[in-house]
Amino acid sequence: MTSGTAPIGIDDIELATSHHVVKLDDFAEANGTDPAKFHLGLGQDEFSFPAPDEDVVTMAAAAAAPIIARSGTEGIRTLLFATESGIDQSKAAGMAVHSLLELPSQMRVVEVKEACYSATAALQAAVGIITRSPGQRVLVIASDVARYELDTPGEPTQGAGAVAMLVSANPKLLEIEPVSGLNSADVDDFWRPNDSTTAIVDGALSVTAYLDALTGAWTDLAAQGGPEMAEIDRVLYHQPFTKMAKKAQVHLAGLTGEDLDTEIVAGGSGAAGTDVSNVAAAGPRDTGLATSTLYNRRLGNSYTASLYAGLCSLLDHDEDLAGKRIGLFSYGSGSVGEFFTARVVPGYEQHSRRQAVTEALDARVPLSIDEYRALHAAELSSAEDVSTPKVTAGPFRFAGIKGRARLYERA
Ligand code: COA
Repeated sequence: MTSGTAPIGIDDIELATSHHVVKLDDFAEANGTDPAKFHLGLGQDEFSFPAPDEDVVTMAAAAAAPIIARSGTEGIRTLLFATESGIDQSKAAGMAVHSLLELPSQMRVVEVKEACYSATAALQAAVGIITRSPGQRVLVIASDVARYELDTPGEPTQGAGAVAMLVSANPKLLEIEPVSGLNSADVDDFWRPNDSTTAIVDGALSVTAYLDALTGAWTDLAAQGGPEMAEIDRVLYHQPFTKMAKKAQVHLAGLTGEDLDTEIVAGGSGAAGTDVSNVAAAGPRDTGLATSTLYNRRLGNSYTASLYAGLCSLLDHDEDLAGKRIGLFSYGSGSVGEFFTARVVPGYEQHSRRQAVTEALDARVPLSIDEYRALHAAELSSAEDVSTPKVTAGPFRFAGIKGRARLYERA
């Protein structure tokens, strides 16, 4: 932030995911596809898949609960819920989170939408609120279930996850800097009509639209007086699949003329962990591409949460971030791109989530491909009252539908 004002940014962050996982080795075998296409071609090893009693609300509440347990609700007067996969056309999904977490009544609760970008809009709005009222804190939650139709190219890039962030003055993790590069363009690369539970996507167009938005946002960052590439130590990207971050990095290297690392971790059934040992120690500048993609290649796409899951991965696997500047590129189809920067606060490493996230990823219950396809096809209509089976091992559950309203409870 500018001198004379307290820095504002991310004080606490947590990642949650779903009960189930689909292994892309199983998916490849069932589809007769070479597994290397997923591990190397897309940079994905697995994807999270929700149980029948999970959705964006239960994952969001699970992500936010430890933050509230640690720091209470004092000064939290705003909850911004960013999602592409909202559960209602009118009521904010955050209302159910507000209820599950027993947050104070004296709050505003709002849902924010623009495909995978909206969490960044929420984060910037949070910074704005705290700039005006430095004593306040804002709870920003990004939560999504990425769903494509069965037997389409997008299917192996599905996933599910939520990232909750507490935004405050004098944050413990990340100080967000004031300059942003922005780019908006009306493009039909990915969208989800009101009557569809799966996204419609023009995959090839979505890749070029993403890179065009990166060009526009980077160019605008420079025009707004933002830092040059040489002044940025690490770069994080929205990761619909981790190979997309590599494509973006190659593109940014071309835009800036810098020799940047372009290796993501070579995956496979045995590599679905946190091993970065196959990344060359010498060579192009290491901007964290390998370390920031470790969680996402196991989560799959988590739309709005994906960039911030990448942030968790970087913070949890890079021990040399104190005082370093990170560039973050957020992209949402449709489309909006934003490139902004932040400084890592010394002491960040004391708040590592690595063990908890790794345990949560390891604890997911694998689905056979038949089980996964049956769950994918099962869609609830709001027209009938229904109770969902108790499956999730998470702290909150979607209990069912009554009188066309969705019901949630502590598990
Ligand atoms: N071994 C290693 N790599 C392989 C392979 C194999 N056996 N078979 C294919 N590949 C590589 C391809 O060369 C290609 O690499 P490249 O992107 O570097 O050219 C990659 O795997 C993808 O394969 P391809 O056949 O080109 O595409 P696809 O039909 O699988 O579709 C997407 C890929 C991303 C378009 C599709 O997954 C999609 O629509 N995803 C959802 C939309 C999305 O996430 N968009 C991103 C921007 S928001």
